[in-house]
Amino acid sequence: KPMEFFNYKGVKFAKHMIFSEENLHFVENEFQVLDDDIYNVTYPKSGTTWMIEILSLICSNGDVAKAKIKTVPNYTRCPWYESTIGMKQIETLTPPRILTSHLPCHIFAKSFFTSNAKIIYTIRNPKDIIVSWYHYGKISLLLQCPEDFEEHLDCFLKGDFLYGSWFDHVWGWIQMKSSKNFFFITYEELQQDLRGSVMRICDFLGKKLDEAAIDSVLENTSFNIMKDNKMANYSYAGKSAVDLSKGSFMRKGISGDWKNQFTVAQSERFDRIYREKMKNFPVKFNWDEDGTEE
Ligand code: A3P
Repeated sequence: KPMEFFNYKGVKFAKHMIFSEENLHFVENEFQVLDDDIYNVTYPKSGTTWMIEILSLICSNGDVAKAKIKTVPNYTRCPWYESTIGMKQIETLTPPRILTSHLPCHIFAKSFFTSNAKIIYTIRNPKDIIVSWYHYGKISLLLQCPEDFEEHLDCFLKGDFLYGSWFDHVWGWIQMKSSKNFFFITYEELQQDLRGSVMRICDFLGKKLDEAAIDSVLENTSFNIMKDNKMANYSYAGKSAVDLSKGSFMRKGISGDWKNQFTVAQSERFDRIYREKMKNFPVKFNWDEDGTEE
């Protein structure tokens, strides 16, 4: 599956039907953000689909049927607004909208920055992102990634990935850290304390859910339930994006799987570059120590 790419403001995008320079230009300069919009923003493979489920359920008060109400073929409840398909889907949404994006901060809709809309930004241990992406590359019909892991790792470290460099992505977005419209959380926090994380997200969104509703959010966003949820496991909405005969989208759902994939040398090389690029990063992550242990 040969793939061509184009560059938009220093960021790599795939040249296929879902991305276009015109749409990115529209998104950045003309797209109208609404004050009650909620944006689920991530670098790919950081827990985007998990957060879609969490936000859909919170916003429907834990009501599973309501959270799925917009489930029709090729329809995602929380469209990627930078894609041309997503843009069409958005036209059919009634506010309040939950939208998804992998865009780096410098290409995000300008109108966001003068609005009261909210962003939830999920960050994941980049070593796990690399592994998750590597496996996703095998089932994806839209994106290509090298079969050789070493080469895949090189591309990541050089920032030669769709949506650009992970390092630039997190550095860009973390500048919003003290904005009242911005909330960031890690994939690892979701795993360690889903209840606490969901409560904090509810607080940020100004949603008051009762115990039963919270319990429903927790239950329905667990890996095992989501694995069988056709909206989440891509067997429904994402059929045109993945070939599920080659592997599952809901793959392992754990932290630290990189240890099963990276060699010691690869891990050391990663850590050296990570330390250099993340020097003075305003937030410390639990993997920062972990990454140097071997
Ligand atoms: P793995 O490939 O490591 O299993 P994204 O949605 O950003 O593409 O991220 C996909 C990753 O999130 C996959 O990681 C997937 O298994 C994981 N994931 C999705 N839902 C999850 C959940 N409820 N709990 C834990 N991990 C989840």
